[in-house]
Amino acid sequence: MRQFTSNELRKEWIRFYEERGHVNCGAVSLVSDGSTGVMFNVAGMQALMPYLLGKKHPMGKRLCNVQGCVRTNDIDSVGDRSHVTFFEMMGSWSLGDYFKAERCKWSYELLTQVFGFDADHLAATVFAGDENAPRDEEGAKYRIESGFKPENVYFLPAEDNWWGLEFGPCGPDSEMFYIADVPDCGPDCGPGCDCGKYTEIGNDVFMQYEKHEDGHLTPLEKKNVDTGWGLERILAFLNGSKDVYKTDLFAPIIAYIEQASGKKYDADDKYTVSMRILADHTRTAVMLIGDKARLLPSNMGAGYVLRRLIRRAVRHSRNLGIQTSDILHIASMYVDEIYNESYPLLVQNREFILTELGNEIRRFEATLENGLKEFKKILGEKKSVGSIDGKSAFYLYDTFGFPIELTVEMASEEGLSVDEEGFKAAMEEQKQLARENAAFSQKTVAADIYEKVDKSISSEFIGYDRLSSTDKILVLADNTAVQDSLSEGTEGTVIVAKTPFYATMGGQKGDKGVIRTAGGVFEVAETVKLPEGRIGHTGKVVSGTIKVGEEAELEVCRETRTATCKNHSATHLMQKALRQVLGDNVEQQGSYQDPDRTRFDFSYGKAMTADEISKVEELVNKAIADDLAVRTDIMSIEDAKKTGAMALFGEKYGDEVRVVNMGDYSIELCGGTHVAHTGEIANFKILSESGVAAGVRRIEAITGSNVIKYYKNNEKLLEEAADAAKTRAEELPARIAAMQAEIKSLHHELESLKAKAAKEAVGDVMDSAVTHGEYKLLAVKVPGTAMNGLRDLADELMTKLGEGGVVLASDEGGKVNLVAKVSDKAMKSGAHAGNLIKEIAGLVGGGGGGRPNMAQAGGKNPAGIESALEKSIEVLKKQLG
Ligand code: ALA
Repeated sequence: MRQFTSNELRKEWIRFYEERGHVNCGAVSLVSDGSTGVMFNVAGMQALMPYLLGKKHPMGKRLCNVQGCVRTNDIDSVGDRSHVTFFEMMGSWSLGDYFKAERCKWSYELLTQVFGFDADHLAATVFAGDENAPRDEEGAKYRIESGFKPENVYFLPAEDNWWGLEFGPCGPDSEMFYIADVPDCGPDCGPGCDCGKYTEIGNDVFMQYEKHEDGHLTPLEKKNVDTGWGLERILAFLNGSKDVYKTDLFAPIIAYIEQASGKKYDADDKYTVSMRILADHTRTAVMLIGDKARLLPSNMGAGYVLRRLIRRAVRHSRNLGIQTSDILHIASMYVDEIYNESYPLLVQNREFILTELGNEIRRFEATLENGLKEFKKILGEKKSVGSIDGKSAFYLYDTFGFPIELTVEMASEEGLSVDEEGFKAAMEEQKQLARENAAFSQKTVAADIYEKVDKSISSEFIGYDRLSSTDKILVLADNTAVQDSLSEGTEGTVIVAKTPFYATMGGQKGDKGVIRTAGGVFEVAETVKLPEGRIGHTGKVVSGTIKVGEEAELEVCRETRTATCKNHSATHLMQKALRQVLGDNVEQQGSYQDPDRTRFDFSYGKAMTADEISKVEELVNKAIADDLAVRTDIMSIEDAKKTGAMALFGEKYGDEVRVVNMGDYSIELCGGTHVAHTGEIANFKILSESGVAAGVRRIEAITGSNVIKYYKNNEKLLEEAADAAKTRAEELPARIAAMQAEIKSLHHELESLKAKAAKEAVGDVMDSAVTHGEYKLLAVKVPGTAMNGLRDLADELMTKLGEGGVVLASDEGGKVNLVAKVSDKAMKSGAHAGNLIKEIAGLVGGGGGGRPNMAQAGGKNPAGIESALEKSIEVLKKQLG
């Protein structure tokens, strides 16, 4: 068998297929767009489903790739040596091109010529046939023709040899296995048996059918091949182990966990399982947050799966006694050392990944300690009944953020079950309560002041289409009590029977304006709802005195009302546009409009992309340019529902509702004030999009003249920036690019000067080389040098040294860099830089690995450099024998 690093294996897979006319079609996001009925990408073929059903693929009929996949259905098995939640599938496809003959031939070539297996140790399974499709005699024939021994080809039923997702392309498959040189475990021992004799290597699916959503199958016009081989398991196997955690994808992480926890991998099952879960879940979290979709933990859908993974990782890290900072260090190792070459997007998203992961860990940790105490208490109470009730499980979820699965897992470790149905019921009950409470959450202003006021006094809002009116003052109050009059300088509240002033409600801020009587002027700062259906104009008497019973002129400030209307109407257009761009799952969670801006909260599990934001802006601006007429109708709730009007989920509405319709583009139930035509909004601009709570996003936006102000301000900033860069605004991007290039070249120059200085500081280190037989071994510390400089220096020293090995270590501001290199001849005599680094990295508080001829590692304990260097000579001597 040939040995591979993960990077080599990926490259080898692609090379093999490119040589056979395939095009590398690249990988898609790990988070599914929902069109295939699953949350994550679970197989390489998922993104190709339309093409497997017959659509023409722009890249041709032969494709290959390495696709990240997330499968959490057997998350309970994670903790053994082979199950993982994220894995890479090496795939190749024939889209209506070649079929079984070529497929079988190439699989055999891959297995024997590339991976180095011999035919004696290979077995294959093929489909035994059932009512849907015939026995795959042809598959068996080609497997045997390709080189498999006839006695090692097995026919198995659909349960083992049929592949497809919920619906879509599917067909019989043929799996390949490695047969270990051990006796059968019993008379039924064969592929699929988990005694350890047979190890699955890959799967070739002969896709010839489409499964429809109702379950029936129809044959496809063109036959396809879908090949998917799991990278992690093959990698482990080729490197002589069945433990994926011993491959270069995990080994440095496990080494780090060992060092941070002080526990040994493979020594005590309990800790080994926790180490694997921590390593696996952290890796999947890094992959999901750093993915194109930038998934974030939330309480819904894919975001919730991510939350569960992170919280489970935290719990297992605690079992091991390791810290939050260690989990973040593990995450950074995945980004910086393990996937930096194969997943450059992770490197780009590094800060985002670490920040969001850190936030979620901290959110959970803030309540974890108390939650665990409560859990123990509940455990004590329920031990005798053998099960935790749904209400308690919900309490742990609601108050301490324990996902139900976590409670189930912890309970089962103690031999208890959890009433999951009861949990769901408790969750539903709480939602209902929240809906009811929302109806009463309106803030009231010093309500008890008005207790003595005649119960018959109430107010009506008449300002949907007018901004002024006259009416008699019915009630006056200062900040402490009801009064007959208010004199100049007094703050207070005015109540009338009919007012054009809109009171703060439904997210729209109440009007400002003035109330004038013959004797005085009252400036209204805000209008609010009071109990008993009264509207309170709150503010201050700015001149004279106003009295109860006087006729008053009420005048709303046109400017602020109009600006607020623009923001409110634009919010309706935006809600519609958000649904168009992000889907119908977008639900309003909160909203606020005043003259300056609009703020809109909505349910959505992840950050919007720049492209999505710009699409929403475009749609809203188009609706503004279309100058849609805004119509409001009062109708029964039944009739309103028939119009398809958007309403707040769970909100209680009266029998009669107000429906605001903007040119049939947006139809919403709403009591607020709006523009008459959308053209009045003039402009719409989104200022920010951010997360406010798990699964809830917030957009802040502006309209009308505020947009002009915003751009004017930007123009000013641009000019200032251009001035600072001593150029004109148009030239600024080019100027910045030039400056960056200059910084880069200075940086390079600095690096090479540093390397030179390091070399000089090392002096004539050749004297300290140790002779071991025909080899020279050198291990020295170099002052503060980056990994690149260290590698170059190692190359140079290796050339000077002739045959042997060089180990260099540097302390770069508390961060340790280690590089090891061995000459080809030394390598042939047993020297192995990768193994060497693995043995010494722990001494500098790090982990790492690499190839036999060259390896590197990072660490965080400079105090260990001397002993690491000493040990490296010992190890090299041992390796060379
Ligand atoms: N799509 C096939 C699988 O996942 C290759 O096994």
